[in-house]
Amino acid sequence: MKQALLEVMRMNRICRMVLVTCLGSFILVIFYFQIMHRNPFGMDICCRKGSRSPLQELYSPAQLELSSNAVLHQMRRDQVTEMCRANSVATRKRRVLTPNDLKHLVVDEDHEMIYCYVPKVACTNWKRVMMVLTGRGKYSDPMEIPANVAHVSSNLKTLNQYSIPEINHRLKTYMKFLFVREPFERLVSAYRNKFTQKYNTSFHKRYGTKIVRRQRKNATQEALHNGNDVKFEEFVAYLIDPHTQKEEPFNEHWQTVFSLCHPCHIHYDLIGKYETLEEDSNFILQLAGVSNYLKFPTFAKSTRTTDEMTAEFFQNISMEHQIQLYEVYKLDYLMFNYSMPAYLKTE
Ligand SMILES: *[C@@H]1O[C@H](CO)[C@@H](O)[C@H](O)[C@H]1NC(C)=O
Ligand SMILES: *[C@@H]1O[C@H](CO)[C@@H](O)[C@H](O)[C@H]1NC(C)=O
Ligand SMILES: *[C@@H]1O[C@H](CO)[C@@H](O)[C@H](O)[C@H]1NC(C)=O
Ligand SMILES: *[C@@H]1O[C@H](CO)[C@@H](O)[C@H](O)[C@H]1NC(C)=O
Repeated sequence: MKQALLEVMRMNRICRMVLVTCLGSFILVIFYFQIMHRNPFGMDICCRKGSRSPLQELYSPAQLELSSNAVLHQMRRDQVTEMCRANSVATRKRRVLTPNDLKHLVVDEDHEMIYCYVPKVACTNWKRVMMVLTGRGKYSDPMEIPANVAHVSSNLKTLNQYSIPEINHRLKTYMKFLFVREPFERLVSAYRNKFTQKYNTSFHKRYGTKIVRRQRKNATQEALHNGNDVKFEEFVAYLIDPHTQKEEPFNEHWQTVFSLCHPCHIHYDLIGKYETLEEDSNFILQLAGVSNYLKFPTFAKSTRTTDEMTAEFFQNISMEHQIQLYEVYKLDYLMFNYSMPAYLKTE
């Protein structure tokens, strides 16, 4: 009898313990969901501890759907490696990089990614996305960030701001990517954006006046002063003029990807292309593990510079100048597998 009573009491105690534990877990779960609910992005964006890094996802994809893309990017990487080797005289001019060469590499520590931005290759939208990724819940929709805010340099951290050991560690362990575009199309886009729009007089003053002075025989005082009516032919003449790059490096809007991102020194894991911008961008967001709530913004195609438009602009450029211009951008053509433009080949 006494034995049985003791047994009941013991069971009681166990039940109570179990109940308390259960209740505790239950409260914890509620609490957890409340946090999740209040900050639906915060969890994924800020703390990926314990999960796989984008680099792991790329090189040993957990999902089957990721692997065909992984193969494509392997081919693009191989192309760059091969061209760096084949053109080693041009590509090995510099042996080491200094922090100053890393100003275009935007760092996202939370997702262990580095993005080298190339102006005129969807860089505003990619900067917006990087601000969402590094914002720890501050933003959820890239398009809520105005373009001018996306270009404020202090809004994103670049690799040159770290110490040398920190730089090396990040270059080794982070997933590095960039986006490229057909080089002549990128040039036409830069020309249209900087020289045919009224709103940005800083480019007219800084570069337009210089181009008019150098490339126009009979320039009026007004044109010399304003620099706001640069013709595409004059812009091309300026780019192929050997003096131009001796004086100072090209402006980033027409600088080669090769010089902005150093693809022979920095081993990029992913080479996105403007021609497949949305697929490539969303693949990167998938690797980062954020694709369920962050999509790359699709943007108005109406103002985009197309290849037809590019061909039209080049109609007025002499064959000799086209060939010289191709030489300036040749490494970008070869590294990123763009074929020589048809309008250049046919003549
Ligand atoms: C390079 O471009 C050609 C033609 O567009 C294509 O067939 C080939 O697969 C590309 N190679 C790489 C490495 O992307
Ligand atoms: C014009 O371009 C310069 C350099 O990119 C930039 O600093 C400036 O804010 C731009 N101005 C306008 C009005 O867009
Ligand atoms: C230069 O301007 C003068 C006077 O306006 C004109 O007579 C001459 O034909 C112009 N030359 C060229 C090459 O445009
Ligand atoms: C090509 O040159 C002609 C004649 O100078 C000019 O009317 C036309 O606007 C130019 N086209 C482009 C795309 O610059």
